[in-house]
Amino acid sequence: MSLHQEIDYGTPAPKSGKPVTLTIDGFKVEVTEGTSIMRAAMEAGIKVPKLCATDQLASFGSCRLCLVEIKGRAGTPASCTTPVAEGLEVSTQSARLKNLRRNVMELYISDHPLDCLTCAANGDCELQDMAGAVGLREVRYGYEGANHLDAVKDESNPYFTFDPAKCIVCSRCVRACDEVQGTFALTIDGRGFASAVSPGQSEPFLESECVSCGACVQACPTATLTEKSVIEIGQPEHSVVTTCAYCGVGCNFKAEMRGNEVVRMVPYKDGKANHGHSCVKGRFAWGYTTHRDRILKPMLRERISDPWREVSWEEAIARVASEFKRIQATYGRASVGGITSSRCTNEETYLMQKLVRAGFGNNNVDTCARVCHSPTGYGLNTAFGTSAGTQDFDSVEEADVIMVIGANPTDAHPVFASHMKRRLREGAKLIVIDPRKIDLVRSPHIEAAFHLPLRPGTNVAIINALAHVIVTEGLIAEDFVRERCDWESFQSWARFIASPENSPETVAAMAGVPPETIRAAARLYATGGNGAIYYGLGVTEHSQGTTMVMGMANLAMATGNLGRRGVGVNPLRGQNNVQGSCDMGSFPHELTGYRHISNAGVRASFEADWGVPLDSEPGLRIPNMFDAAVDGTFKGLFVQGEDIVQSDPDTQHVTRGLSSMECVVVQDLFLNETADFAHVFLPGSTFLEKDGTFTNAERRINRVRKVMPPRAGLADWEVTLKVAAAMGLEMHYAHPSEIMDEVARLTPSFAGVSYEKLDALGSVQWPCNDQAPEGTPLMHVDRFVRGKGNFMVTEYVPTDERTGPRFPLLLTTGRILSQYNVGAQTRRTENVVWHREDVLEIHPHDAEQRGVRDGDWVKLESRAGATSLRATLSERVAPGVVYTTFHHPDTQANVITTDFSDWATNCPEYKVTAVQVAPSNGPTEAQDRYRAHSRESRRIAAPAK
Ligand code: SF4
Ligand code: SF4
Ligand code: SF4
Ligand code: FES
Repeated sequence: MSLHQEIDYGTPAPKSGKPVTLTIDGFKVEVTEGTSIMRAAMEAGIKVPKLCATDQLASFGSCRLCLVEIKGRAGTPASCTTPVAEGLEVSTQSARLKNLRRNVMELYISDHPLDCLTCAANGDCELQDMAGAVGLREVRYGYEGANHLDAVKDESNPYFTFDPAKCIVCSRCVRACDEVQGTFALTIDGRGFASAVSPGQSEPFLESECVSCGACVQACPTATLTEKSVIEIGQPEHSVVTTCAYCGVGCNFKAEMRGNEVVRMVPYKDGKANHGHSCVKGRFAWGYTTHRDRILKPMLRERISDPWREVSWEEAIARVASEFKRIQATYGRASVGGITSSRCTNEETYLMQKLVRAGFGNNNVDTCARVCHSPTGYGLNTAFGTSAGTQDFDSVEEADVIMVIGANPTDAHPVFASHMKRRLREGAKLIVIDPRKIDLVRSPHIEAAFHLPLRPGTNVAIINALAHVIVTEGLIAEDFVRERCDWESFQSWARFIASPENSPETVAAMAGVPPETIRAAARLYATGGNGAIYYGLGVTEHSQGTTMVMGMANLAMATGNLGRRGVGVNPLRGQNNVQGSCDMGSFPHELTGYRHISNAGVRASFEADWGVPLDSEPGLRIPNMFDAAVDGTFKGLFVQGEDIVQSDPDTQHVTRGLSSMECVVVQDLFLNETADFAHVFLPGSTFLEKDGTFTNAERRINRVRKVMPPRAGLADWEVTLKVAAAMGLEMHYAHPSEIMDEVARLTPSFAGVSYEKLDALGSVQWPCNDQAPEGTPLMHVDRFVRGKGNFMVTEYVPTDERTGPRFPLLLTTGRILSQYNVGAQTRRTENVVWHREDVLEIHPHDAEQRGVRDGDWVKLESRAGATSLRATLSERVAPGVVYTTFHHPDTQANVITTDFSDWATNCPEYKVTAVQVAPSNGPTEAQDRYRAHSRESRRIAAPAK
């Protein structure tokens, strides 16, 4: 294996244009109009020396190293800023050019430390390469005069250093932060010789606006910006292309390695979801994989109050099988089940549901997607016939109006947010529908046309009001609706939506949004050109989550915003493989590809392949498993890669359910909260330790490639095979590719997927089959998958969770950039420097009424429970609304969430809880108990480790 080198063509490729022919160094070259001479030369294999140019950034023309001669033109133009033209005759080499380039390099080197041998970038430095390329042999100017060699290093960022002594002021970092990331955190301060790169107002990186995406580090051609891991470990010697295991964007990375040690994760330019960009999590926060808290040996105990005992894999697996068999013999076949994880690969998830359906003989399998995006599957399937987003990410480049609903992309889907921000800076209009003033509402060079700060729980009222304006003001795309949609369903929806109860004027007071803002936003979406909707958990995690998904689908159909680039209805999936875990048949009522278990034909194909009869009745959903456990009929649970105690609603009910079971098996990287209730702990493997695939929010199936052996000896898929065998179900796969072959054999939308194809194409978006052998970037192009688009009547039914005198405020929850979900991984990395604890955002007006000051401890109480955390005063939330994150277990945020859930899918209503906030002295008794319990768990685990 070698270090995977990507060619840098110097300037970006033009999007389209006529072919142009020119001659470079005597060779005829044909390129697209708008290509730079530098890129044309590079495409022809002729390397032009360069320092300030890179194909990730628009050309800048500052270093003067890339000079060329053009026949008939005076001077020596910079090839990076000069576009090709028909018939040009270009020379990249001549005595004059050599001389000029050498002079330029001489000036650079005369103000650069000559410590190449001990420099961390030795061997990976473009300045060094260029000195070689131009044949620099001597530097005539000494080091005596003014220079920057004593400039002080900034080591404040936990992941990279900034050594201004090595800076050549090429501006690549500044441009990367502006153009690629869109944060505008860097500037060039001063002029001429005094000019220098500066984060913010000459602040250390850590205190500046920098969000640690790493784009500047990636762009820097010298050792000025360098990953600390490279400084510590040295230059990598091989690399493997794989996929980030954090969020649903699904960025591809080159894992650059020395032996089995990761030196750095470099965003992969050919990654179709990220195009060479990254965020702080995927780029830097992989240290958890080697964290000392990893449990690397299987463990057993008789009772959950006993200490853990380390055992062999054989003993642990035998115990799982014997316990599950005993429980089924005593309490019946349906008394056990399993939970799959959206963090695991498709192949692992597929095997888990197969273990339950074919090995346990029931359909008691569910997934953590239940608590996030299950309404997406149900709602979009009902409207369009597919349980997935309609577009690829690149589609946003043609959107004219972008509507972001209940999502906070800059924190939760940062790389896509950067992509979207680029389009917004080009002039697309933005509508944000969110109770909170998220960063997108106003950030450098971006300002939302409309922000609808609705009261939590009124999503459906607002989407109906937007549709009301469109229907009653005659803004319907009638041709589209008549041709593509079910006309009858449209008519009954239009009648319903036009009624006065859905008008902005009726809805305004209840939703907290002025009617004129609703009207103006609706007009903009319907008439502003291509309208694209992007949404997140602020849509789904409601008692009307599914209704809201249908409401957005109605709006898109009514305005003809489907079936082409720049439009669509797009869920931004939370975890890396939420889409995949749903595709792989993790829900109790569905086999792979969303086919109902009661469908005899589909079931028969699985029965024939697996060689076992399958139950035709849907099994238990996660909340029903806990109900049944409390009732005494559900006794054994295998939880793979999911911390249900921390992430599921109504913690007390979850823990009561788990405590009632006789065998709880937890497979995870760390001893998580759920493991406190487990009898068997099986070590999990990280994404770096196994092969497989993840499917991102745009249905893109990306390869995950093993870069190191599983630290506990087995990858998760191998463990499932062994458990199945011990249960009497033989499954034979030599490699995860064979699992995917089986998925393809049994699932029409995956029929054309294979590892061979993924390796050849990089990735594919399902459906991938004979009709679409290379996958499907855009869905529903000529017709909806279900035939005609289906309008659903979306009556607004207020949630039962109401504010009142006891609980007058509404709590809503969200995420922060540096942390991920329940924080199990990111809390075990340096990312904690940005977020050491969860805090409660409260409007200054509400705080003042309660005597709460910034930084005070407050008690947050709902009718379900209470917790304490620190308050931060913020006008991001409206009066009456408070907000927190749930990344730290001792916040116990889910102690206060209620058991209300979506009517169709049971997705919990995390986004609306009526609460009261009052000053407090510190953690609640329950938190103290929890902390004591955690200490005790760690003590119990300690001897085993
Ligand atoms: S790490 Fe990212 S956000 Fe920070 S300065 Fe560099 S490019 Fe800008
Ligand atoms: S820090 Fe690196 S990329 Fe930025 S101006 Fe200096 S040399 Fe160029
Ligand atoms: S945007 Fe998501 S997938 Fe990409 S690097 Fe960040 S966490 Fe990973
Ligand atoms: S690479 Fe063209 S001017 Fe720097």
